[in-house]
Amino acid sequence: MPTPLLAPSLLAGDHARLADSAALVAAAGAAWLHCDIMDGHFVPNLTFGPETFAALRRAGSTLFFDTHLMLAEPQKYIEAFAKAGSNLISIHIEPVYDHRATLARIRQLGCQNGIVLNPGTPAAAIEPLLGEVDLVLVMTVQPGFGGQSFRRDMLPKLQQIDAWRRERGLNFRLEVDGGVDLVTAKECRAAGADTFVAGTSFFKAADQAGFVAAVAQL
Ligand code: DX5
Ligand code: ZN
Repeated sequence: MPTPLLAPSLLAGDHARLADSAALVAAAGAAWLHCDIMDGHFVPNLTFGPETFAALRRAGSTLFFDTHLMLAEPQKYIEAFAKAGSNLISIHIEPVYDHRATLARIRQLGCQNGIVLNPGTPAAAIEPLLGEVDLVLVMTVQPGFGGQSFRRDMLPKLQQIDAWRRERGLNFRLEVDGGVDLVTAKECRAAGADTFVAGTSFFKAADQAGFVAAVAQL
């Protein structure tokens, strides 16, 4: 079972000072930076492009860029994000494109891969892909915006995916994203999650280093 870790989300950082926000994440002791990419089609919002992350690398960030593509056609952009410095690229199961080929291509590009499910998508939708991924991301809010409330009805989905992981001896990470704070992270950990995205709760935390350390102890 992978060791628990916090992936603070840049979406909740200062968009005029992204390098400072990334530096703050590193200073808090986090190894991962969750990078939310939105296209205004798959989700009703816009965020960053590959150049943003290339610039963060040039500014000196050595964080693990956990790149969450909320795109209708992610297969068109994986190469650009790999070149920009992504370490892991996750793609949603909901849009129609060749998921399996895109996951394989992400690895060919030298990145880890991940598959993501929206709250309305059953675990069964990604079950055939479990042997081919480095990470499964279960959305605990409808994607598009930070600051939403955690959906407890996603806990059984985590339990199901964790059960498949154990039964099959797989070791992909099981990540949760949306409304995660220390309280809800504990509930997700009990349901099998090991990787915790936190936007609002991280950037508002009085003790960010304490938050990172507490998640590592879950
Ligand atoms: C939502 C994004 C999340 C977002 C989470 O579409 O995928 O990563 O940053 O924000 P919080 O932690 O504020 O719910
Ligand atoms: Zn995300």
